[in-house]
Amino acid sequence: MFLWGTATASYQIEGAVSEDGRGPSVWDTFAGEPGRVRDGHTGEVACDHYHRWPEDVELMAGLGVNSYRFSIAWPRVQPAGSGPVNQAGLDFYDRLVDALCAKDIVPAVTLFHWDLPQALEDRGGWLDRDTAHRFAEYAAVVADRLADRVPLWITLNEPFVHMVFGYALGTHAPGRTLLLDALPVAHHQLLGHGLAAAALRERGAGQVLITNNCTPVRAASADPADVAAAHAYDTLHNRLFNDPVLLGKYPDMSAYGVRLDCVRDGDLDLISAPLDGLGINYYNPTRIAAPSGDGLPFTDAGITGYPTTAFGWPVVPDGLRELLTGLKARYGDALPPVYVTENGCSQDDEPGSDGTIDDRARIDYLDGHIAALDRARAEGVDVRGYYVWSLLDNFEWAEGYHQRFGLVHVDFATGRRTPKASYHWLRERLVERTGADA
Ligand code: NOJ
Repeated sequence: MFLWGTATASYQIEGAVSEDGRGPSVWDTFAGEPGRVRDGHTGEVACDHYHRWPEDVELMAGLGVNSYRFSIAWPRVQPAGSGPVNQAGLDFYDRLVDALCAKDIVPAVTLFHWDLPQALEDRGGWLDRDTAHRFAEYAAVVADRLADRVPLWITLNEPFVHMVFGYALGTHAPGRTLLLDALPVAHHQLLGHGLAAAALRERGAGQVLITNNCTPVRAASADPADVAAAHAYDTLHNRLFNDPVLLGKYPDMSAYGVRLDCVRDGDLDLISAPLDGLGINYYNPTRIAAPSGDGLPFTDAGITGYPTTAFGWPVVPDGLRELLTGLKARYGDALPPVYVTENGCSQDDEPGSDGTIDDRARIDYLDGHIAALDRARAEGVDVRGYYVWSLLDNFEWAEGYHQRFGLVHVDFATGRRTPKASYHWLRERLVERTGADA
């Protein structure tokens, strides 16, 4: 069965940050510091999904999706990041999983979507190798509770973005600005993935994936300096996280002064244990030019000539086909089935005078990307699922509540949900598609 779903993440939707024994996460700390998140927004209430989840499950049932990708908040399960388990935190996800199963919606669990327990950050976070071991311990706890009903597991979400924004540039939690010294965060997350995958396997936890944020990279021109810079960017963004998982080795990054001294014997064997699927989040391609002297081996030249989202991201549907067929060409038989675990756009959606939300641009976006997905499948890429980011408007990290990605509008003052035109459109499409794909 092809999985058609919506995706969310714990800190972005749950709220209830101090309820039922949840411990603080790096995002609570970061969002609480002045100037970190636009307009001082925090995830304290977010979509209040922690209390409104039954309504959200109903919304998905009404939409007709057959899967839901959500993440577990590690600090709800282990408030101090290690040691004692908070059963009340696990109970929340237990109830959610039961409700999804009752509606024939396949739960797809992400174990880490950036909300690291603050106690672990205080000990070095992902700069510390020990965090990888703590992650595997936590994965085991969650699997012991949910593996009997959850068939799809994603260890990490976008380790590249977490490393770059969280530890290199500091625009996301934990707000470190280490530039290239953030590199151990790549390896320790990947090691955490490998150790967690092994723990999941031991517990018979169904399909195991990792989700990488990938972008097709285009050189700004045929000039060799632009082409070399595009190669560098592709290596650091795409290959750094896909090669170790799929090929068991890191790409050669010595030309950019990048070394990974923290890799120990045996790590890559763990990291490259066979997976049941590769999760891919796709938003847009990237156009790269020669370095501009700021110390980086490339410059983002920007993509012009396409419509843009509210974030200013270019809308290039065929980039999804290009990405998927490019992965197949690069990894061949080493590429497991692919799941598009996120795709979507932010728009300035507000209700009109009649209360409806006419997000025509999102309909065009989804229509174009689903068509690109079909083309990739027709060209031989084994794609098994597609998840729209996101079910609900939610806390968009450093942008707070300013970027609305949802199929469902959320009034953040009241928590009120209103399905947008795209929700109704997708529902019609899924009626056609799930019949054909079942
Ligand atoms: C990818 C991230 O996984 C998600 O948390 C975020 O909201 C979307 N991209 C949109 O930026």
